[in-house]
Formats: sequence, C-alpha cells, structure tokens
Amino acid sequence: MKVIEFEKYGPAEVLQIVQKDIPEPGPGEIRIRIHSTAVNSGDWRVRRADPFLVRLFFGLFKPGQKARVLGSVLSGTVDAIGAEVTRFAPGDRVFGMSDLALGCYAQYICLPESAPVVKGVESLSHEEAASIPFGLHTAYHFLKGAHLENGKRMLVLGASGAVGSAAVQLGRIWGCEVTAVCSERNVELVKGLGANSVIDYEKDGLSDLKKFDVVIETVGKTRPDRLRNLVMPGGQLILVSGAMKDMLLAGIRSAIWKIKVKSGVALVSIQDMEYFRELIESGQYRPVLERSYDMSNVVAAHKHAENGHKRGNLALRMIT
Ligand SMILES: NC(=O)c1ccc[n+]([C@@H]2O[C@H](COP(=O)([O-])OP(=O)(O)OC[C@H]3O[C@@H](n4cnc5c(N)ncnc54)[C@H](OP(=O)(O)O)[C@@H]3O)[C@@H](O)[C@H]2O)c1
Repeated sequence: MKVIEFEKYGPAEVLQIVQKDIPEPGPGEIRIRIHSTAVNSGDWRVRRADPFLVRLFFGLFKPGQKARVLGSVLSGTVDAIGAEVTRFAPGDRVFGMSDLALGCYAQYICLPESAPVVKGVESLSHEEAASIPFGLHTAYHFLKGAHLENGKRMLVLGASGAVGSAAVQLGRIWGCEVTAVCSERNVELVKGLGANSVIDYEKDGLSDLKKFDVVIETVGKTRPDRLRNLVMPGGQLILVSGAMKDMLLAGIRSAIWKIKVKSGVALVSIQDMEYFRELIESGQYRPVLERSYDMSNVVAAHKHAENGHKRGNLALRMIT
C-alpha cells in the first residue's frame, strides 16, 4: 500500500509517499481501506512541531515511529476483521477518527473496534465524510458542556475554518443566536451555515458588541484579556487555538474574571461520532469542503492548509 510519511519535522516537502506492507488486523481490530482522509490544522502542526508541545507527545528531536504517518480522520470500507470483532463486518462503509494515534495518511489502517469509528452515511461522498470529524469533534468537545439551549448568544471567531464552521452549525442546531466573525469573502458561507449576524474582521471591531453567553475563539489573533470583556458574567470563553500557557492559566483566569475559561485538547468518543452521524443523516449538519486533493498532491494540500485561510476543510483522496 501507499503511505505518506515524514522522518523529520519541517516544511510540507518533508512528506513523502512510500510503499509499505498492508497491516493485518489483530484480535479486536478492524482493517479499513481508506478512501479519503483530510488535511487539518492538527496535521501541519505535528509536521512542523508547532507548538513545541508536539515534540513532547510525538518525539523530541524527530517524529517517533508511531507519529510518522499523519492523519486523524478517515472515510472508507472495512475490508478485514480480527477475532472477536462484533461491531463491524467486511464491506461496512465507515467514517471516524484514529485521533491522536494518527496513521490515516495511508491506504489501509488497523484500529481497535473501540476506536471512534461508526457506520458511514450513504448520502455523502468519502471526501465529504472525511472532512467532517476534525472540526466537528473539536467544536462539540468544547461546546457540549456550555448549556447552549434556545436563545443563548454565541460568538464564533474564525467562523469559516474547520472548527468555526462546525461551531456555527452546532449553535444553529441547538437554537442559539450565532454571531460569526470572518472576512467578507466568507460572509455568505457562514450565513448559509446558520449565523444570525456576521462581523467582517477586516472592517468591523469587536468592542461595541452586546455581551455573549459563549465566545469560542479559533484563530489565535485576539488576546484572551480582550475577549473576556465580550463574555457576560458566568458565561464561557473557549480558547480552541489556545497555547500551553492558556491551558495552564484557565483555572486562574476563570476565578479572577468570573467567567469559565476553557482550553485544552479535544477528545472524541464513539457516542459523539454516532451523534454526528444522526445530525448528518437528519440533514441538520452539512460538510464544508473547499477542495479535494489526490494523495500525490499532499505537499500542495499542506501548504494550502497552513496558509491560515482555508474555507472549511480539505479532503485527501487515498485511492489512486
Ligand atoms: N484544542 C484543540 O484540541 C484543537 C483542535 C483542533 C484545532 N485546534 C486549533 O484551532 C485553530 C483553528 O483550527 P481550524 O482547523 O479550524 O483552522 P483553519 O480551518 O485553518 O481556519 C482557517 C480559517 O480562519 C479564518 N481566519 C483567519 N484569520 C482570521 C481572523 N483574524 N478572524 C476571523 N477568522 C480568521 C480564515 O478565514 P479568512 O480566509 O477569511 O481569513 C479561515 O477560514 C488552530 O489554531 C488549531 O491548531 C485546536
């Protein structure tokens, strides 16, 4: 099988296509023929070791063996199962995440059947399906505890990115009043996803806004001490793009600012993935896919993803 690998941290050009043996599923594992993965901010951050914390997780001087194949999302078909597997059978269409185990930039992957992978949605292409979990699981992880029932006011900074476009859709699904911050070229996109009002970050400031129940920040260009003034007392400030410092300071800031400040690493479960499938099947949630690349163009796809201006998501086709 073909696999995209990298042996040292660096620019997109470190990614190379190599041939490997197709892995055999062990007991309790499924093997998935990956039709499409996606190129996400998590992938270029690991490739560049940016932030430094990446090196503590994935290898101090160079990526360790387990981190050399990037990719945390997939859509494909189960093509073999190990002993004791009960949730899947060969031929099942599936989508989901390998999450921090990575490894989805490959034509096949073996995962435990307990991984956050669920039966696929027939109405979506593999590229559309693979483009959903990264942004949606991140937005859901941070927003699900925010009690966002009807009429709550939510501000999304970076509303046209992978995480922001998912946050806007979740806000609309849960009945919130969503204000989205994006550039002029993405205004129609975010309105179509459900934003009630839009702020063009190139023209409009944030200072005159009525306060929000929840502010979710996904860009990293506005200081948390400015954003906290946009949150009503008892509300939540979610720093998705927060650095290590923001994770460490979350508790102290919450106490001093009298709001809940959240940061950290998003996690995902099978139950979350089942919920995402329901949202898609019921027509409430739709993929935001800017473009699909063939695996042979992975370098161009990474350059596109790391320029900071992609619209939603980029799929990476693994079938050649
Ligand atoms: N904590 C976690 O577990 C976790 C998980 C996933 C991601 N993240 C982090 O969250 C951040 C967002 O990830 P992502 O994948 O959603 O990124 P992304 O898809 O690359 O976001 C790109 C979007 O940001 C918009 N943007 C750029 N500058 C902006 C500004 N000043 N104001 C508003 N929008 C702006 C761009 O729109 P324009 O082209 O119009 O500028 C573009 O649509 C990254 O820092 C990522 O590392 C954290």
